[in-house]
Amino acid sequence: MTQGISDGQGRTVVLEEITDGNWREVADVAPADDQRRYVAALAARYLLLSLKGGVWTSLGVRAGDDIVGHVMWAYDDEDGTHWIGGMVVAAAEQGRGVGRATMLALIERLSALPECREIRLSYHPDNTAAGHLYTSLGFRPNGDFEDDEIVVALTVGAPAA
Ligand SMILES: CC(C)(COP(=O)(O)OP(=O)(O)OC[C@H]1O[C@@H](n2cnc3c(N)ncnc32)[C@H](O)[C@@H]1OP(=O)(O)O)[C@@H](O)C(=O)NCCC(=O)NCCS
Repeated sequence: MTQGISDGQGRTVVLEEITDGNWREVADVAPADDQRRYVAALAARYLLLSLKGGVWTSLGVRAGDDIVGHVMWAYDDEDGTHWIGGMVVAAAEQGRGVGRATMLALIERLSALPECREIRLSYHPDNTAAGHLYTSLGFRPNGDFEDDEIVVALTVGAPAA
C-alpha cells in the first residue's frame, strides 16, 4: 500500500495488494442488487479474473480499518494504455467519498509509472453515478465502445503546451 487519501468521513483510503490476510474481505465486496447490471455480483469474480487471466491486477480498497471496495488495473501493451476496471464500492459504503478517493489513489499510482500516458475505462451509459465520478476526474469519451459501454480516457503526463 502506498497511497493515503481521505474519504468524506475522514477515513484514510488506501489501495492494498491482495494478500492471504485480506482476500476474503475483498472477495465479499458486493454492490447493491440493482447495480449488478453494471458490475459482477461479488468482487470475487474480479479476483479470479486477476488470478487466472494474467492481465488484470486486483487491489483491495481499505477505508480506515475496513475493506470497503475493489478495483483492478491492466496494461494494454498493444496500444500502450492503462485500464481501470472492476470498480466496486460495497453497497453500504457508497456515497461517502470512497469511490472518488479510490480513483484518485489509482490514478496517482498509475501516473507514476514511466510508461503511463493514458488511462482508460468503460461504463454503462445508464450508470450515472459512475459517469459523474469519472467525468469529474477528467475522463472524456474517446469515441470507442466496449460492448454496450462508453470508453473514456484520461491523458496523463502530457507535456505543457
Ligand atoms: C460508482 C461507485 C464506484 C461510486 O463510488 P462511491 O463511493 O459511491 O462514490 P463517491 O461517494 O466517492 O462519490 C463520487 C461522486 O459520484 C456522485 N455520486 C455517487 N452516487 C451517485 C448517484 N447515485 N447518482 C449520481 N451521482 C452519484 C457523488 O455525488 C460524487 O460526486 P461529487 O463529489 O461531485 O459530489 C459506486 O456507486 C459503485 O460501486 N457502484 C456500483 C458498481 C459500479 O457501477 N462501478 C462502476 C463500474 S464502471
